[in-house]
Amino acid sequence: MKNKSVLITGGAGFIGSHVVRRFVDKYPDYRIFNLDALTYAGNLENLVDIEDASNYTFIKGDITDEKFINNLFETHKFDKVIHLAAESHVDRSIEDPLAFVKTNVIGTMILLNAFKSCWNDRFEGKLFYHISTDEVYGTLGTTGLFTETTSYDPNSPYSASKASSDHFVRAYGETYGLPFVITNCSNNYGQNQFPEKLIPLFINNIIQRKPLPVYGDGNYTRDWLYVKDHAIAIDLVFHKGKQGETYNIGGFNEWKNIDLVKLLCQQMDLKLKREKGSSLSLITYVKDRPGHDLRYAIDASKIKDELGWKPSVIFEEGLEKTIEWYLSNDDWLKNVTSGAYKAYYEKQYQ
Ligand code: NAD
Ligand code: DAU
Repeated sequence: MKNKSVLITGGAGFIGSHVVRRFVDKYPDYRIFNLDALTYAGNLENLVDIEDASNYTFIKGDITDEKFINNLFETHKFDKVIHLAAESHVDRSIEDPLAFVKTNVIGTMILLNAFKSCWNDRFEGKLFYHISTDEVYGTLGTTGLFTETTSYDPNSPYSASKASSDHFVRAYGETYGLPFVITNCSNNYGQNQFPEKLIPLFINNIIQRKPLPVYGDGNYTRDWLYVKDHAIAIDLVFHKGKQGETYNIGGFNEWKNIDLVKLLCQQMDLKLKREKGSSLSLITYVKDRPGHDLRYAIDASKIKDELGWKPSVIFEEGLEKTIEWYLSNDDWLKNVTSGAYKAYYEKQYQ
């Protein structure tokens, strides 16, 4: 794919920045364009190490701005798109569902239309890769796994908006022959994650000796994947995935929230050289998240069997690396938690 142009949306966010870095470093022949509106979750500090690379261009812009997006496709004629830009936090979607419809549904539609018009239905060698989530499948009980054929059953405004965008991508594939691939991934963790999500929020609170707000009884289960393993999977699906297919991506790594939080407390006490058990005493059970999904767990055997992908990082080691990164990047943490973050935090955890 020499000299082809790849548009990555949401590349200044958590997962997007890892994907952008991987593509810029690994594929000098590709021209990588990172389109990001730099919302509260987008941060160019995540990409300082590659910002001067000759195959990389950052474009500040909003995927919901139709005229701008159409012009951008006309100008750059992107051959392939990896679409990550989204509103991504469930709690925020409960407060402001329309913002999620706007970015996740309308924004995706605008990109699909621009991609379709740009290539005038001549799609040879083109690809629209849509990044989605396991939350579209709703919740599991205490047993079972999500497979690619599990019915969609979203429970939060966030997951409903992601489900809707997945449906539109598939519909454009069926109706217009638009070449697409979709991946639905489980919970990511790792460096550069905004501290509204469980792991970085709790790392930040432990550093500051603030309460650790565990929702409900803490017996909710998530399947955790190190973000760099997700970026490797995205690279593989981008290059080897079958068009029109969906692949589930997961960590084979289920943790009840409360068990994960206890492990995090232990590791933080060691790293901060604090007395054993001191972080545990910060655990505070708070009001549950409305519509809280009990359990997510992915059957990732399709991507494993067809494309040979499996997670490479063991959770305990990934968590330790993550903690080390936050502890040695306190400026990053301070910068993202100043200003608007404070108002968000007070409203959410009043
Ligand atoms: P994030 O919130 O960290 O980053 C989202 C990025 O999108 C930010 O850089 C933000 O500035 C940008 N953005 C938001 N609205 C935009 C708009 N209107 N126009 C242009 N850019 C905009 O999100 P993340 O956790 O990195 O998730 C990335 C994608 O992966 C999302 O589509 C999400 O649904 C999906 N996903 C996330 C996880 C996870 O655990 N974080 C798991 C599975 C799937
Ligand atoms: O499953 C993939 C999804 O994972 C992604 O699509 C989302 O973008 C991503 O945000 C994440 O969603 P979750 O809701 O699972 O992640 P979050 O980190 O918000 O919460 C993880 C679990 O921890 C969940 O059961 C809620 C709980 N929790 C979360 C926060 C922020 C708490 O108990 N207390 C908290 O303060």
